[in-house]
Amino acid sequence: MARLSSTQQIPPRRDMPRHVAVIMDGNGRWARQRFLPRIAGHQRGSEAVRVFVEAAMQRGIAQVTLFAFSSENWRRPADEVSLLMSLFVHMLEKEVDRLHEVGVQLRVIGDRTALSASLQELIEAAEQKTRGNLRLTLTLAVNYGGRWDLLQAVNACIDSFPDRRIGRELTEGDIMAHLSLGDIPEPDLFIRTGGEQRISNFLLWQLAYTELYFTATLWPDFDGEALDRAIESYQTRERRFGRTSEQCSVPGS
Ligand code: IPE
Ligand code: IPE
Ligand code: MG
Repeated sequence: MARLSSTQQIPPRRDMPRHVAVIMDGNGRWARQRFLPRIAGHQRGSEAVRVFVEAAMQRGIAQVTLFAFSSENWRRPADEVSLLMSLFVHMLEKEVDRLHEVGVQLRVIGDRTALSASLQELIEAAEQKTRGNLRLTLTLAVNYGGRWDLLQAVNACIDSFPDRRIGRELTEGDIMAHLSLGDIPEPDLFIRTGGEQRISNFLLWQLAYTELYFTATLWPDFDGEALDRAIESYQTRERRFGRTSEQCSVPGS
């Protein structure tokens, strides 16, 4: 069942974000600063994923969504793209058992039809293996774009009607039901490392009321302490969802 959008319903107030979405940026610059090839930055970046998931688990965060490869990243040099894909295969082969043991459910969002058959098989096997895990859901966005997500959701929505005849106005709920993250709460906190202040075609629909946090820290350096700083910033925000500040300070609102 799709959850209602934050533009339709106000989510409960929480001190700890339930869902954190991250654009893991700055791997290339991390490597360049050390006169290393860009892929060395991506390698360190994949280690930072492990650190981040552990830190999120310790802090009781239930949903983590990480942008690993965008629909625009195909524009990079072919050798960087293929090394990124091999790193992803390596991560699935090496990390899934450990993630499974600690209760992580792994999901992948994005257009996987463009990925190699072997990578698609590894993704399906990892999702099958971990589907019953409830402690933390780790969603990796691979060949993901927010515009792709909206388009596929609209098309899937139309396909869900008999003979594709809709016969009524579509609602937010119709679209949400088919979005990649339609079954989990929208992100409370968005983090982008690496200093850029843009969304880069990440979760366009789902970030409508997410608190945004940008840091110059490069992704390979982002650790538990850096996460705590992001959470501290989040905790100072007043999430008004269109209401006035006075309305928000009423207990139970
Ligand atoms: C993010 O780091 C990783 C991916 C996009 C796959 P970058 O590779 O974009 O690092 P910078 O931005 O060049 O430093
Ligand atoms: C966004 O990073 C995508 C990922 C982190 C996977 P980029 O580094 O590709 O973003 P832009 O193109 O500089 O905005
Ligand atoms: Mg970048």
